Formats: sequence, structure tokens, C-alpha cells
Amino acid sequence: LILNSIFDMKIAILPGDGIGTEIVAQAVRVLEALGQKFEMETAPVGGAGYEAHGHPLPDGTLKLAKEADAILFGAVGDWKYDTLERSLRPEQAILGLRKHLTLFANFRPAILYPELVGASTLKPEVVSGLDILIVRELNGDIYFGQPRGMREAPDGPFKGAREGFDTMRYSEPEIRRIAHVAFKAAQKRGKRLTSVDKANVLETFQFWKDIVTDVHKEYPDVELDHMYVDNAAMQLVRAPKKFDVIVTGNMFGDILSDAAAMLTGSIGMLPSASLDANSKGLYEPSHGSAPDIAGKGIANPLATILSAAMMLRFSLNLPAEADRIEKAVKQVLAQGLRTPDIYEAGTTKVGTVDMGSAVVKALRSEEHT
Ligand code: IPM
Ligand code: MG
Repeated sequence: LILNSIFDMKIAILPGDGIGTEIVAQAVRVLEALGQKFEMETAPVGGAGYEAHGHPLPDGTLKLAKEADAILFGAVGDWKYDTLERSLRPEQAILGLRKHLTLFANFRPAILYPELVGASTLKPEVVSGLDILIVRELNGDIYFGQPRGMREAPDGPFKGAREGFDTMRYSEPEIRRIAHVAFKAAQKRGKRLTSVDKANVLETFQFWKDIVTDVHKEYPDVELDHMYVDNAAMQLVRAPKKFDVIVTGNMFGDILSDAAAMLTGSIGMLPSASLDANSKGLYEPSHGSAPDIAGKGIANPLATILSAAMMLRFSLNLPAEADRIEKAVKQVLAQGLRTPDIYEAGTTKVGTVDMGSAVVKALRSEEHT
């Protein structure tokens, strides 16, 4: 029976644009090297979806994503699509997938591998041993709030002038469900949760703070504190190790997670998981499509490979295989192999494919020890 369920597992492979195709190819090799039988099906998304079917999230791609057990996603976006109307831009693919599949819980762990302590722009004593988790809400906030648009200002000192506007809003159920996810994650770690808000200015985030405080009653074993987002940004670069789990809204989480990524030396190292209420998920590196280095064979595939490990753990119930991949990544770092984004003097510079090969090799050799 167990064997059957393994055979049935279907992974949607959505490489996307820019370096997306290069890094996803390496993660697929790593998955294949595990010796498990996965059904993997690839579909175009983002700019590639637009080129193939005139839409960043083509119907066939959405259908595949819906029927798959998990989604491995590369990255989307390219400057050449910036002039398209918003609904056709590559970013709509990832936003659409998050929304259509109700992937509301985004896990962005920031872990500093000891070998990369010198690659961080922060002092070693500030970041060594760093292990924090950002839980970002992904379905609400100003990202999706209506109304939004461009219009003639209906009032105010610039009445009649053109203006752009968006709406920040969070409903109680939305805040409750992400708060539960974050408290549960904290229970499995250091039992400390920091809720990041802007309650001093925004109604939306006063409400957020009130609801998170209420949900806390169900998790007395977790220590909760609240922090304004500007202070959180400062503390992240001042004393990041003071954090355990951070929970925040969609927009603040977008910004803080990029900052947290850089603590670890390179955003090229950071995996992420976006989960629905049943642990179905989309797994993607936290970085973008990096069109400036696309096609050069120098992109770091480790964030995507580590995202595949998260996929095995959270959605496919294969924690031992996830461990094997993470161990293999540690091993190639210990061997001194570095893509240019994490290169330092004294290490060996390798490209995307060679980094993938090294992880595959580490997986294979481990079988014989
Ligand atoms: C991210 C990205 C996306 C976001 C973009 C590509 C829409 O920055 O996943 O952090 O803003 O959420
Ligand atoms: Mg972002």
C-alpha cells in the first residue's frame, strides 16, 4: 500500500523564466537520483506561459498544478514583459497559483550553513548559527485587496489629479489560520513567535495584532511578542539570532524575507514552501528569475534543490529522503564547492550543472557508506 502511494505521487514541474529552467533541471536530477519513482510533468509558466499560450498561467498549467500532489516552481519574470498589461505579466502566474490553490502559508527558513559564514555581508558573530523561520501570509493583504487601480482622486488635497491606489485588508479567518500555522511551527522549534505588524499606524495591523493575541491563548507553551515592521527590519540586521519564528502579513513578509535571506550569505541558498490547509504545496527558491545571469550556467541551484527537500518533507511524506538531500547539500558545501554568488577565496568555483552533479554524486556515495 505504501509502495502504491509512492508510485502515485505526481509532481508538477513549473520551471518558468530566466534561471528558472536551469535550476529546476538540477533539482529534477536530484529527485531522480533518490531512487524513488515520481511522476513528473512539466508545464510552462510566467513569461514562458505567455509565449506558449498567451497567458502567464495557462489553463493546462493550472490544471496540472491542481491535480499534482506538489509543485516544484522555478522563477518567473523578465524585464521584457514589464510593458505588458498587469494581468499578463509573469508575476501573475505565481500570485494566481497562490490564490487559486489557497496556498496561504509561506515558510521561508533562513539558515546559515557554517561554511558560508564568510559569504554573509554581516559580521560572523552576528549571523553564525542563524536559524530563523519566516511565516508569511500569502493570500491576503494589499497584494489582493480590492478595490485597487488608477483613477482621478475623488477627494483630498489633490482631488481630480490622477492617483494609484490599493487596499490593505485582512479578515479574521485569514489571520487566524496563519496564526495557527505559525504557533504550531514555533512549537516544533524554539517555542518563540514574533508577530510583525504596523499597529501604530494601520487599522489592518491593529486587527492582526488583536487576533494573533487571541489565538495565542491556545498555545500557552509558545512565547509571543509583537514588533513593528520597521523595528523588525532593524533587528533582523542588528541581532537576527534573537528571532525564532516570525509571522507577518503578505507585504511585510515579502520585504523581511529578502532581508533575512541576505543574512545567510546569498538569496541563492534559500528554499521556500507555500502550503494550503492540507499540506499540499508549491516549492520555490526565494530568489527570482535573475534575467541578468540567465543562460550563463552560473546560477546557484541549491535553493531549488533545498526546496525539493522541503517538498518531500511537507507534501510527499518522505522525511528521510528530505534529510538525504539536505545532508548532500551540506556535503558539497563542506567540499568547498561554490557557485559565484557564494564564492570566497580558497573555495572552488563551479557552475549550475556542476553543483547539481556534486549533489547527485553526494547522494549516490552516501548509499555506499
Ligand atoms: C516573492 C516574490 C513575489 C512576491 C513576486 C514575484 C510576485 O517577490 O515570492 O517574494 O512579491 O510575493
Ligand atoms: Mg519577494
